[in-house]
Amino acid sequence: MGADLSRKPPRHVEGEMADDLAEILIPEAELQAKVHELGAAISRDYAGKDLVLISVLRGGFIFLADLCRAVTLPVTVDVMAVSSYGPDARPLGVVKILKDLDESVTGRDLLIVEDVIDTGLTLSYLLRNLEPRVPASLKICVLLDKPARRIVDLPIAYRGFEIPDKFLVGYGLDYRQRYRNLPYIATLTKEALDRLNRQ
Ligand code: IMP
Ligand code: MG
Repeated sequence: MGADLSRKPPRHVEGEMADDLAEILIPEAELQAKVHELGAAISRDYAGKDLVLISVLRGGFIFLADLCRAVTLPVTVDVMAVSSYGPDARPLGVVKILKDLDESVTGRDLLIVEDVIDTGLTLSYLLRNLEPRVPASLKICVLLDKPARRIVDLPIAYRGFEIPDKFLVGYGLDYRQRYRNLPYIATLTKEALDRLNRQ
């Protein structure tokens, strides 16, 4: 019998990525508990409906993967890709569709699954883009809500955590495309931000 690898700490708690982290804001167990709570609520509310979970790449892919498995109803999953942030992580207020949905959503119950709502510009753009396709319903599920910098007020049907105005990485969220694979939500040290900005 070999070593029980499942009991070893994940690779990323040691070494380079761990050194870049200032604080773990939401540990893995809390994230997973919340995702299951959201999945249970969605399963109750959408029983008997034609639910389509729509995620926004790339940030939403991990939340979508966990959330769809916490939903106990038959669902369809589709993805869109948009770009809203420039490479320097400042919001430009510009949303561009890089990839549209594959399926028709007319008459279906759409739930947008987003990692984080910050200014609200990305989600308000998506709502405006999806409404003309005449879905039966159109709602929003966000894991993280940063109300401090909200520009557009939107109805959020399902919300994981309300969080302070900090730049976060992990569980799908990136800084310059890194750290998406951390299983928790964390902040970066000033040194890591400076170093990545110089690269
Ligand atoms: P909004 O349009 O300002 O609401 O921003 C939404 C998008 O900005 C999210 O889907 C993320 O891609 C990105 N974003 C906002 N806050 C963060 C953060 O703290 N870390 C990483 N990406 C973020
Ligand atoms: Mg996103």
